[in-house]
Amino acid sequence: MLLQHGNIPTLLISSAQMAKQIMKTHDTSFCSRSPSLGAKRIFYNFLDLAFTPYGDHWRRTRKIFVSQLLNSRTNPSFLHAREVEVGHLIDYLSEASPNPVNLDEKMFNLVGGVIDKVAFGKRRRGKKFQGQELKDVLDEVMDVLNGFSAEEFFPFLGWIIDSVTGHRARLNICFQKLDSYLEMVLDEHLNQEMQNGEDEDLVDVFIRLSKDNSGVFLSKEHIKALLMNTFLGGVDTTAITMVWAMSELVKNSRGMQKVQEEIRGNLGMKQKVDSDDLKKLIYLNIVMKETLRLHPAVPLLIPHQRMQHCK
Ligand code: HEM
Repeated sequence: MLLQHGNIPTLLISSAQMAKQIMKTHDTSFCSRSPSLGAKRIFYNFLDLAFTPYGDHWRRTRKIFVSQLLNSRTNPSFLHAREVEVGHLIDYLSEASPNPVNLDEKMFNLVGGVIDKVAFGKRRRGKKFQGQELKDVLDEVMDVLNGFSAEEFFPFLGWIIDSVTGHRARLNICFQKLDSYLEMVLDEHLNQEMQNGEDEDLVDVFIRLSKDNSGVFLSKEHIKALLMNTFLGGVDTTAITMVWAMSELVKNSRGMQKVQEEIRGNLGMKQKVDSDDLKKLIYLNIVMKETLRLHPAVPLLIPHQRMQHCK
């Protein structure tokens, strides 16, 4: 379906066949991002990965992101962070049983805790900024990024509407808050030597990469933009997906029983599942894939922009 949003023609793809054409067969023609004004402001003129238009910067940044953050072999301390936080949750759930718990809140705390630990390590953990938690600042940013910007669709006069509605002011306030927060985190990391035995966090990794001779240049703005992507992209999506998976299992007692039997059958006397066990849990993996299919956390993806015509 072709929709005309102001100046921007938008093609909505809703069949698996067309999605495959766009995302796989002709990926190189459709893989860019539209230069959204909100993202431009928040991510330091597109120094991030998720919203930056396709090009050399995107390719270089993606390589860094994948090799340093998503590859647990590069940095085993990230895996350790996940195991520690999951351990805390399991302990809490065991103690709370059989009383009901608010799983929504616990899942958000779990994922927020893992990403917080991976990104900032021990040094910033749990500290507030100008009386606000990082999560609250991020929620505000998401709100304003998802909000309606008239300038995006009507470039000539839209800015007047955005000024009247207060969208521009909100964007600037959010940016200032988040920027000051991350600036403080970076300064703390730059000014404090790592203690002996302390795990390297993501900020340490980015600072090290920008200083060593690996040929990677990461400015302060670049590092802050990547940290924003990690928090904005990683927390809500993961937590929402886990809550949906649990909700589906609670509704489907046969599925729940199969997951429990598979875990017990594979773990034996072991008390906690670790990442090596996950490969063996085939049914659990199917449950997660089905959850992502039924309840995609980002159903419309981040809009793709066409770069060239294709048949
Ligand atoms: C269940 C969890 C997650 C879901 C459902 C999800 C969903 C998505 C979707 C739909 C996109 C856009 C893909 C596209 O436009 O083609 C995306 C991109 C992205 N996500 Fe996630 N995400 C999840 C977890 C994470 C985590 C944990 C992180 C970071 C720690 C993350 C960081 C990113 C980044 C950086 C991009 C941009 C990638 C690129 O442009 O190449 N996401 N995600």
